[in-house]
Amino acid sequence: MDPALDLAALHGAHLQTQRARFDRALAACGYTGIIVYSGPLTPIFRDDQTHPFRAHAWFKAWVPLTDVPDCFLYYEPGRTPVLLFNRPADYWYKAAEPPRAFWTSQFDLRPVADRVAAREALPRNLGATAYVGQAFPRLAAWEVAAVNPPDLLTRLDYDRAVKTPYELACLRAANRLAARGHRAAARAFAAGASELEIELEFIRACGAREQELPYNPIVALNESGAVLHYQMLERAPPAELHSMLIDAGAEANGYASDVTRTYSYRDPDFAALIERFDEVQQALCSGVHAGVDWRDVHLSAHRLVAELLHEADITDCDAEEAVATGVSSVFLPHGIGHLLGLQVHDAGGLLRSPEGGEIPRPEGHPHLRLTRILEEGFVVTMEPGIYFIDQLLEQARAGALAPKINWARVGSLRKFGGIRIEDDLAVGASGAENLTRDAFSAEGK
Ligand code: GLY
Ligand code: MN
Ligand code: MN
Repeated sequence: MDPALDLAALHGAHLQTQRARFDRALAACGYTGIIVYSGPLTPIFRDDQTHPFRAHAWFKAWVPLTDVPDCFLYYEPGRTPVLLFNRPADYWYKAAEPPRAFWTSQFDLRPVADRVAAREALPRNLGATAYVGQAFPRLAAWEVAAVNPPDLLTRLDYDRAVKTPYELACLRAANRLAARGHRAAARAFAAGASELEIELEFIRACGAREQELPYNPIVALNESGAVLHYQMLERAPPAELHSMLIDAGAEANGYASDVTRTYSYRDPDFAALIERFDEVQQALCSGVHAGVDWRDVHLSAHRLVAELLHEADITDCDAEEAVATGVSSVFLPHGIGHLLGLQVHDAGGLLRSPEGGEIPRPEGHPHLRLTRILEEGFVVTMEPGIYFIDQLLEQARAGALAPKINWARVGSLRKFGGIRIEDDLAVGASGAENLTRDAFSAEGK
């Protein structure tokens, strides 16, 4: 089958679902229509340059356009959605061509020169229309009913966790791109490249600009792997190379992948620890299916990681004690995973119901971003880690946890920074599709 035709059919069905969700949410909140803004170009302070543009997630949920600012989607239940496509008359820049793609026939596409023209193309009375997106100075004059009404956004965020077949296809494609990038990055690491060179190899293999990635790649050599969201890119390789932790994803039609791998340079002991850690990660993946409470997955991960810490002679206490006393959190201080989709940390992870309310995190685990019961169609990351973080180790050493940790072993592992292995999983009724492993397999060596 022609993949473009397939995507067109999938996107058509996706819009049906999107319309049904919006119809329900608009009716429940008392609106007759909605405007969704792609977002503005934001100027840099006292400069004539702008920050890189990123389209707002709710706009991308309808329109797979990620790089055109100042577009508006207007939707009224029962009507064809209108796409006001920004085409300014500005000879300093090239205006984007009105798109002709697998999705364009779904919209009444109207080029507009600016926001004034966009307003004129909208119905005169917007008094029952909600507006979603970043506000801009003259928005008040549009006289919409509400700007980003929380009750409406909560309902939409809640529904968004369940991905449509179109969204799953995009997330598979985003994983394929990331796997290609990761393979190139691993080759660069094995050849002794610097963090910056490795990042550039990743980007080249993805065929993307840095601003088109869902987040800045984390390329951490040696002890920098201990910094959870390490943001530096050293220009020179370290004098001695021990390890690489690379957390890097790509985007397809606005949907993100979020993938981490850890490599030992030439140390067989650290390589063996990574291999055992991979088994733990895979065991956790195999427990994912609809109906599972993600808080239980997080706590199981702590128990399994704690067992491995003991087995690897990093701690001197059993798993139960390690979890109960907080020893496991010294080495694993982040959540086990999160929703993934239009944003790398997708919206709605804590919502109790479409009306709102929060499902609390387990006590002592403040960074978990997902507390819901998994449903078929959720896409989540599975990303256990073990890190040697000076700040947390110093705190532990100064307190009651000190005798439970093998400090000599920790001292010898510090130079590796840490291990994280992260896959993206599409939740099914009785298991999960591992989008990331499938992508690596499809990419080959
Ligand atoms: N790349 C950020 C995260 O794994 O959540
Ligand atoms: Mn993640
Ligand atoms: Mn990640």
